[in-house]
Amino acid sequence: MLTNVDFSVADLSLAEAGRHQIRLAEHEMPGLMAIRREYAASQPLRGARIAGSLHMTVQTAVLIETLVALGAEVRWASCNIFSTQDDAAAAVVVGADGTPEKPLGTPVFAWKGETLAEYWWCTNQLLDFADGQGPNMLVDDGGDLTMLLHKGVEFEAAGAVPAPTDEDPEDYQAFLRLLATALVEDPRRFTRVAAAVKGVTEETTNGVKRLYQLAAEGALLFPAINVNDSVTKSKFDNKYGIRHSLVDGLNRATDVMLSGKLALVCGYGDVGKGAVASLRGQGARVAVTEVDPICALQAAMEGLDVVTLDDVVERVDVIITTTGNRDIVLAAHMARMKHNAIVANVGHFDNEIDMAGLARVPGIEKIEIKPQVHEWRFPDGHSVIVLSEGRLMNLGNATGHPSFVMSNSFTNQALAQIELYTRPDEYSREVYVLPKRLDEKVARLHLDALGIRLTTLTEHQARYLGVEVTGPFKPDHYRY
Ligand code: NAI
Repeated sequence: MLTNVDFSVADLSLAEAGRHQIRLAEHEMPGLMAIRREYAASQPLRGARIAGSLHMTVQTAVLIETLVALGAEVRWASCNIFSTQDDAAAAVVVGADGTPEKPLGTPVFAWKGETLAEYWWCTNQLLDFADGQGPNMLVDDGGDLTMLLHKGVEFEAAGAVPAPTDEDPEDYQAFLRLLATALVEDPRRFTRVAAAVKGVTEETTNGVKRLYQLAAEGALLFPAINVNDSVTKSKFDNKYGIRHSLVDGLNRATDVMLSGKLALVCGYGDVGKGAVASLRGQGARVAVTEVDPICALQAAMEGLDVVTLDDVVERVDVIITTTGNRDIVLAAHMARMKHNAIVANVGHFDNEIDMAGLARVPGIEKIEIKPQVHEWRFPDGHSVIVLSEGRLMNLGNATGHPSFVMSNSFTNQALAQIELYTRPDEYSREVYVLPKRLDEKVARLHLDALGIRLTTLTEHQARYLGVEVTGPFKPDHYRY
């Protein structure tokens, strides 16, 4: 147990409220709690120093405390400026046995509503464990922590950090400024830290894309496990998580009735499918846009209209981006929208909606309705309502996915951390997914809580299918 916690959170007096929510979440996270029980004695993460960059929510608090229960030392920051739940952050710092006056928990550097400079400052704090040591394991969500180390090493080798230009996104400008300052203070900081890292476990689609790009260039500095593409992650969290939290975010932000409204979901991948289900569940009329013919055909088979944004932009009441791609909704689109159309994003980065272009529209006015809800009034008098400044609105305007689905995701995270930390010789500088037996294990750990009864294969049936009675039940190429 740490006796001295360095941290930066909004308000430690919120810890009690956070602790109550963590207690309720633990009940809804059977996978993570089973992992705590299974590994309590063996302590597989003893000696691990885990730096985590992932939305600092109540559910993440349960993950953090699971990693600690398995023997790890942990430092944590959020991977988004709006996604921190301040009560959860305070509770993690205070710990189950501490008080706000005497915190005994885990260092967290996160609060809701960070500036971009503060965001990168928080991420950089993850690298400073006690006694001048850095982390030896990373948990990442979106790849910012991994990018900090990779770019840091690259610029240290070059001996300089490029100066930010007006062409760079604001986020990247803040990132370059942080790196420049860090390098002046310690010109070998990132090279030294990266050399000790055994691996990273990455949570989301966008972060995974970055990892595969680095691996393809031969530039990945340590092994990586792609947690996102465990079936029990992307086919559950991305889909059923969004089905829950998208409408939650819309309601908390605007309380606009969705029934009968025309909603457009851009992208019909895992998150898009959940978004459509969420909006349809409220009786909205839903159309989608896609670039991939397979996903477009899937949408059509579900009875959805597949359109282009240009076809419908004047008619939509709500538009949700889920593509993980850039430049989906441009300022020129928003100029053509209906009065008070709602524009929001649930993709990982804030470049799906062109916020910079919107701010540059001559004569446009930005009115804060409440934090993370802004009316942008065009000179012709019509407005659009933009949520969370174009960042993940299910975390910015609501509290993200519910505990039960995050238990699936985070049980994968915990197993991936154990895997990379305890068997480093089996992994090289590539990107891996967890073996199917572990994916099936994650699902299995969540069955009892739902009263699900599995059928057991007979020996005959198993031989007939060519599988073991206890699984794995599907070949790796099976798509679910
Ligand atoms: P995916 O790859 O399954 O789906 C994205 C879809 O968007 C693809 O089908 C792709 O063809 C389509 N697309 C790409 N460019 C497009 C364009 N210009 N117009 C229309 N469609 C386009 O990815 P997934 O897993 O659905 O993730 C999407 C995003 O959501 C990622 O950024 C991911 O990191 C993020 N994410 C967010 C979560 C949240 O809580 N808000 C949870 C999980 C993932």
